[in-house]
Amino acid sequence: SLPKTATIIEVGPRDGLQNEAKTVKTEDKLAFIHALQAAGLAEMELTSFVSPKWVPQMADAREIVDATKKMGRQLVLTPNERGINAASQAGADSIAVFVGVSNSFNQKNINKTTAQSTETLHPLIEKAKREGIYVRACISTAFYCPFEGAIEAQDTIDLCRQFVDWGVDELSVADTIGMANPQESYELFSSLKKHFPEILIAAHFHDTRRMALANSYAALLAGIDRFDASAGGLGGCPFAPGATGNVATEDLVHMFHRMGVETGVDLEKLFKAISLIEPHVSNSLQTGMYTLYKNR
Ligand code: HMG
Ligand code: MG
Repeated sequence: SLPKTATIIEVGPRDGLQNEAKTVKTEDKLAFIHALQAAGLAEMELTSFVSPKWVPQMADAREIVDATKKMGRQLVLTPNERGINAASQAGADSIAVFVGVSNSFNQKNINKTTAQSTETLHPLIEKAKREGIYVRACISTAFYCPFEGAIEAQDTIDLCRQFVDWGVDELSVADTIGMANPQESYELFSSLKKHFPEILIAAHFHDTRRMALANSYAALLAGIDRFDASAGGLGGCPFAPGATGNVATEDLVHMFHRMGVETGVDLEKLFKAISLIEPHVSNSLQTGMYTLYKNR
């Protein structure tokens, strides 16, 4: 049977905007973030503390954290000690670290092998946990890699195991290039629930092949009740060729509500939030529910 509620972790301000060709002004990001929060999206990846040479769109991370102090949890993405320190100095109480199951992808994304990344992150995570920081581990290329192809489920589970052993609060398991199918989603998330019953697990689907909604439903059937999603379907990883946006928050919320799975998100307010950011991004936003809203 389906859960009565599901939690959406909004990643639009981070995954959504990191890949934008145009520079989005800090004030426009903040208006978007505040409108998303007003729509009921209480958990959100606000920004990322990464090298501005690699990802210029996230260069204003400090200002974003400074201006969102009233939000409940301040969750920011970061790959290394420098970013974790900067996030903590800014006052963020939650961090999301990220690593790819695939070496080739991890090297393109953060210039380290997967093993080098985990070796570096291990003491940093234990330190963050001692300081009471909420830690989420984002596991990229959990199904497919743009360079290596199919990933063994066991490799994904083994990588997750390390982070669980180091005390992270949550895993976010990602189909980075939107290639997984619902059967694979059901199988991997069922086995993750079985291996890690004690920990929060979120599903992070990109919609490159329009399978993200079906994959989310399959994960829901596998017992997952946390989903990363991006308002307007914005997003993609700049270092994963072919990656497009995440599953659209509005489409996921609509589907869940139609099935009686509550999310606490107000769709009308969410449409308003999307219409605030749409003029500032390169592409017009074409998700199912948002297009219906625009054509009303
Ligand atoms: P590097 O060049 O190997 O390392 O980059 P470096 O230590 O030589 O740093 C390069 C420069 O960046 C230096 O500046 C550092 O000080 C600076 P310089 O001395 O040349 O002036 N630097 C930083 N600045 C700000 N904040 C930092 C930071 N770290 C170093 N934290 C590095 C290595 C990891 C820094 C780089 O590869 C990087 O920033 N990568 C980020 C890539 C990224 O953001 N990708 C997208 C997010 S992941 C994703 O989208 C997937 C996900 O959604 C799940 C999924 O869908 O799969 C999460
Ligand atoms: Mg992503």
